[in-house]
Amino acid sequence: MVCLGNICRSPIADGLLLRKIKELKLDAVVDSAGTANYHVGKAPDFRMIQTAAKHGTRIDFLRARQFLKTDFANFDHILVMDQSNYRNVIKLAPNKLAEKKVDFFLDYLYPNQQLEVPDPYYGTQQDFEEVYHLVDKATDALIQKLFHEH
Ligand code: 4NP
Repeated sequence: MVCLGNICRSPIADGLLLRKIKELKLDAVVDSAGTANYHVGKAPDFRMIQTAAKHGTRIDFLRARQFLKTDFANFDHILVMDQSNYRNVIKLAPNKLAEKKVDFFLDYLYPNQQLEVPDPYYGTQQDFEEVYHLVDKATDALIQKLFHEH
């Protein structure tokens, strides 16, 4: 799960997936990262932590890290939140196989549309709430697609 800062969008995607994978007893490794290094080592944005907690999902234990070229070797799917993340991640891809691992996270919910999870960082509490619900639906769609359709 990749966004810009790894403190708002990708941590909620990470936290929701971790929770659902555990609840459903699925076997998968999930992690998140940011393309930028501004917030490395920090916990998620407090507004995202609070919104998540309100809906029963803990993300306070997550810590921001920067996306690394080695992530291409360690993960099967690299899911980006917006167009800018896509460009920045693709720039680091060592080969075509690695490039193919990169998808828009929202494509699980709205296939082939390359829609973006809006960045709530400069937004209101309502924007965080909307991101939570969008990511909640998209993680359900992702689990359906990756675990139940083959
Ligand atoms: P995120 O949100 O990419 O969803 O974690 C942002 C967090 C921090 C900044 C921008 C977006 N920033 O400019 O510091």
